[in-house]
Amino acid sequence: MSKKDSSKPWRPFTTNCCTVEDQTVFGNFSRCRPTRSQFSKNIALPSFRRLSFSDLSSSTASSTKINEDLSAHTFGSSLHVFQLSELRAITQGFSSNFLLGQGGFGTVHKGYIDENLRPGLKAQAVAVKLLDIEGLQGHREWLAEVIFLGQLRHAHLVKLIGYCCEDEERLLVYEFMPRGSLENHLFKRLSVPLAWGTRLKIAIGAAKGLAFLHGAEQPVIYRDFKTSNILLDSDFSAKLSDFGLAKMGPEGSDTHVTTRVMGTYGYAAPEYVNTGHLTTKSDVYSFGVVLLELLTGRRSMDKTKPKSEQNLVDWARPYLTSSRRLRCIIDPKLGGQYSVKGAREMASLALQCVSLNPKPRPRMPVVIDVLEGLQNLRDMAITCGQWSTTPKTNRSGVNVKGRREGRTGTHWKPSPVAPTRHS
Ligand SMILES: Nc1ncnc2c1ncn2[C@@H]1O[C@H](COP(=O)(O)OP(=O)(O)OP(=O)(O)O)[C@@H](O)[C@H]1O
Ligand SMILES: [Mg+2]
Repeated sequence: MSKKDSSKPWRPFTTNCCTVEDQTVFGNFSRCRPTRSQFSKNIALPSFRRLSFSDLSSSTASSTKINEDLSAHTFGSSLHVFQLSELRAITQGFSSNFLLGQGGFGTVHKGYIDENLRPGLKAQAVAVKLLDIEGLQGHREWLAEVIFLGQLRHAHLVKLIGYCCEDEERLLVYEFMPRGSLENHLFKRLSVPLAWGTRLKIAIGAAKGLAFLHGAEQPVIYRDFKTSNILLDSDFSAKLSDFGLAKMGPEGSDTHVTTRVMGTYGYAAPEYVNTGHLTTKSDVYSFGVVLLELLTGRRSMDKTKPKSEQNLVDWARPYLTSSRRLRCIIDPKLGGQYSVKGAREMASLALQCVSLNPKPRPRMPVVIDVLEGLQNLRDMAITCGQWSTTPKTNRSGVNVKGRREGRTGTHWKPSPVAPTRHS
């Protein structure tokens, strides 16, 4: 299996070394990395009817035991268990020609499945994600993904078709999303610019995915909402992927869950970073950041920019309250083809979402309502005379056209938050 690029972001790995998730945090990351032998410890998953994230905390079971436990649960029956040799065959040996992308988890390859592989399996393209066992994420995130996506089905969540757990290998098989990630469309240099209406459609789809998670009987906090985790169908319908960091929301009278801080720089809510207190409003903050990325075409965190412009929220905040100033930060790739009113409303929504105080952040159903209300607006800036065809400069004198975008290391180490509860 190919190894991940050493410059890639990473997340702390806890499952196989920390006895209680989010409570025991080793200062030295290397102590948290699982050894191969730890994967073979025969500790079973707990027995349960509805599997929850907390059930994962001590799961360092053998692959045989994990497969048995997973398939014993109702959701297990809706997932296919694949053999490594099968997944190798459908991706031409995980060939680089079939490479779809690479993240902190490992590489993702395209493959094809049909009923020759399993009777009744619909012939379709799939995306096969390989866990990089030497990497900095691991079995725990793999298991979280299987458990969450095995139980949650929704039009705006990517469908998990199956998994593979063989010895120390961990893989996931998803439906293939033909248009890849929103990140690629917004930031890859050669990508065709996304039209205003498409951006709105993507924002609404992703908002519906989050609203579904937050509105579940046992709310789920997604914790990793960002453009690379928003995948796009052929018609630009958005689906959320990557549930490795997802967490069950607070229960009973609890207002939040406390957990060590994991996620991606630039997207995480300040109160979560500062205190480890996680609520559904933390996801709303991240949603606001993605709205700003859609509006401006800038990354949430861009180390290639001058210091004052690196953090998108900090940089954009003063521009969001006035239409005149807002014009200066709208993605130049839109070429003036955006609704002036729509952009204003979206900016004001984004501002509420990224509010420093979580309370005034709107709930996701409200976000959906606001965004859906913008879909029919046709007051394009270019026809309203609000778009200059000559390059503009922003306050810092930086030419806003032809900017350089660069992917930066985005994940952070756990902060020294003292956890009070885990789930
Ligand atoms: N189901 C899928 N269909 C098509 N492409 C996919 C699919 N899943 C992932 N990809 C592609 O693979 C890339 C890597 O995905 P992955 O989730 O491993 O990492 P990431 O989201 O970029 O980073 P991180 O590990 O921080 O979440 C995605 O950006 C996307 O382009
Ligand atoms: Mg991802």
